[in-house]
Amino acid sequence: MINVFPNIESLNLFAAEQFVEIANLAIEKRGQFTVSLAGGSTPKSFYQLISSDKFNGKIDWLKIYFFFGDERNVLPEAEESNFRMANETLFQPLKISNENIFRWQTELEVAENIAADYEKKIKMFFELSEKTSVSAGDSDNFPQFDLMLLGMGADGHTASLFPFTDALLETEKIATANLVKKLYKTRLTLTFPTINNARNVIFLVAGAEKAETLREVLEGEFQPARLPAQNVRPKDGNLFWLIDALCGKIIEKQ
Ligand code: 6PG
Repeated sequence: MINVFPNIESLNLFAAEQFVEIANLAIEKRGQFTVSLAGGSTPKSFYQLISSDKFNGKIDWLKIYFFFGDERNVLPEAEESNFRMANETLFQPLKISNENIFRWQTELEVAENIAADYEKKIKMFFELSEKTSVSAGDSDNFPQFDLMLLGMGADGHTASLFPFTDALLETEKIATANLVKKLYKTRLTLTFPTINNARNVIFLVAGAEKAETLREVLEGEFQPARLPAQNVRPKDGNLFWLIDALCGKIIEKQ
């Protein structure tokens, strides 16, 4: 489903209503709500909205478990940390307990170790077997998040799955380190089998600089190596694209 909104405020309002609905349904059905947060700047105002008085009374936050779709390999208090952004806009305002937050342990420094540690945490939380190798697409060995929040970069990346990087081809790991040559950095990211195993995936995309890429992702040729966001195709889950008019102005199908 693709929804184009006149501005980021109306996009955030719709996203907040969806978040509440998905959360309460999950809590009603399974007693908990697991959400993987998006990083970057777009979701910041969304997190501020759901933690505001307008929405914070609509959810039992004690039953929500927070994860991160990706992270920069920096300490949690660093300016560019996705955890830091969520901590300031969501966790601290809502006084979320540490037991409900599962972040990438970037203090471990070595990206591969951080990813392996995160994968272990996720497997424990979702009670997945420690089988070292899983057959591709064996969804029993991947976590099923109730909600995966994602953003998209102007180059078509999502999470830290950047164009022409090795992690795009990962079919066994839940979480991985990913060398992004153009950034001269190694990022940390959940993999497509994990993302595509979610019950619900919501993209939050805004900004004129993403318009052409978004049109290609949604309406152009399938080129997932160049446009990784095209690889987000939930196996059984719902996929929502929530986009603002600045980047959605050239989208035909809405
Ligand atoms: C990150 C994000 C990344 C983000 C896009 C869009 O760590 O940067 O997870 O995938 O969603 O880069 O970022 P903006 O919202 O800042 O445009």
